[in-house]
Amino acid sequence: MADTNARPRLDQTPQWNALGKHREEFGDTHLRELFAADPERAERYTVQVGDLTLDYSKQLVTDETLQLLRDLAAATGVAELRDAMFRGDKINITENRAVLHTALRTQSAEVIDVDGENVVEGVHQVLTKMSTFSDRVRSGEWKGHTGKAIKAVVNVGIGGSDLGPAMAYEALRPYTARDLTFRFVSNVDGADLHEAVRDLDPETTLFIIASKTFTTIETITNAKAAKKWLLDGLAADESAVAKHFVALSTNGEKVAEFGIDTANMFEFWDWVGGRYSFDSAIGLSLMLAIGPDRFREMLAGFRLVDEHFKTAPPEANAPLLLGLLGVWYGGFFDAQSHAVLPYSHYMSKFTAYLQQLDMESNGKSVDREGNPVSWQTGPVVWGTPGTNGQHAYYQLLHQGTKMIPADLIGFARPIAELGDLAGQHDLLMANLFAQGQALAFGKTAEEVEAEGVAAEQVPHRTFRGNHPTTTILAAELTPSVLGQLVALYEHKVFVQGAIWNIDSFDQWGVELGKVLAKRVEPALTEGAEVPGLDASTSALVARYRALRGR
Ligand code: F6P
Repeated sequence: MADTNARPRLDQTPQWNALGKHREEFGDTHLRELFAADPERAERYTVQVGDLTLDYSKQLVTDETLQLLRDLAAATGVAELRDAMFRGDKINITENRAVLHTALRTQSAEVIDVDGENVVEGVHQVLTKMSTFSDRVRSGEWKGHTGKAIKAVVNVGIGGSDLGPAMAYEALRPYTARDLTFRFVSNVDGADLHEAVRDLDPETTLFIIASKTFTTIETITNAKAAKKWLLDGLAADESAVAKHFVALSTNGEKVAEFGIDTANMFEFWDWVGGRYSFDSAIGLSLMLAIGPDRFREMLAGFRLVDEHFKTAPPEANAPLLLGLLGVWYGGFFDAQSHAVLPYSHYMSKFTAYLQQLDMESNGKSVDREGNPVSWQTGPVVWGTPGTNGQHAYYQLLHQGTKMIPADLIGFARPIAELGDLAGQHDLLMANLFAQGQALAFGKTAEEVEAEGVAAEQVPHRTFRGNHPTTTILAAELTPSVLGQLVALYEHKVFVQGAIWNIDSFDQWGVELGKVLAKRVEPALTEGAEVPGLDASTSALVARYRALRGR
């Protein structure tokens, strides 16, 4: 049934059309011209949020562009939807759920009601339970089945139950307890678990089974394999599970069914989306690594950006700004992807984490009313740590034919314990700044000629420039700064979903593959007939069976 409250289609709003007209006028305006025309541009187009400085002066925007984009945000009700999210309204419409990852970082005195219950109380109870458990494991007080302290922690989960803690563990490695080993297993390929545990001792290993639903086939299969590895290794019966397995889940029934005592379960709730969950119980492995105090510092970082997103005026609202820039490039420059390029080894998993956050949230093609959209939604998010990328794919960024906006992320101070033996950090950051400059301003044919380059070589050595970047700079990668960065991107994704009028909080797109895998599996194992299997897949299954000697 048609929703009478449905808002006008995005591409039929006057604000969208005004942007289209502005884009035509903008034409090929070059960043060189924009900087030449405004000596204050760098200063005016820099925004501060907490410890993060965002320089967006190298974006293809003018004051008029920014005003038109903010008009679009106002017309599409971004602020209203934001307030509804923070309030706990059920804005995840296809699952009829509240979207309250922001409640995970509220202070205990706050009150947020969902279905008549103050969810903040539960959040703090679980945080306390996690802290007590972390302290016991970290101090060696928690003993395994044979009475030895825990030395290794293996998180078993996938998607949001893996990427967040794995990314944050890597990012905050200098803050981790170095006498504990941490491993993250996600792939149902047995190689993943095998490599994770092959040098571990079952007597001193703790498994964390992380699954919101506790029905995800990859995780449950890996958890069963982990249990077998442990019990075989200890030559023990099921009673050993209690000291070596804990669960992070919303589903107590399934946890108990698996054989984990629900006393060893750390709870979270259906209003926490998987990809928004590593500051919930899903972050237990991270808390074990960095300790409860550092974990709380990280939560404070998240909170700081939540407050900023709620209260900063549109002109100075960093997540709003980042979201709007993506809408501008996707909608009016036909940009298909967005690169996130951290100049930090510790941030090596950050972009992979953002892929789920962004692409699972905004990879949608019908609007909230169920109509096909006729505008671009979420981009392909990609990237790796910067300097490595420079010697691999940056060629395409500089001289290829594609429009790829990018974020360059860096930190002023190296991690103290590294010692910065040969001044690597300045070199690392010089690369970041140089890339932003080269991407924006390029190198003209005249400049190349002036270097005495032979005429036929000039086109090959010319850089068009005008590739937009935002530089995000902080003093140091601390737990709080990591929380700030993640919240910044969470809210950026939110802004874009709100403008595109899609439900950023469901993920039905992953269901079909899951259902089909379940149907195909008996064909592989038993040669069962799968009704309706297409000719190509049928032949591949037959070939697979032959190769397995079945
Ligand atoms: O299949 C996609 C997904 O539902 C993600 O959204 C989620 O993060 C992941 O699977 C893991 O789900 P769970 O935590 O329930 O095992």
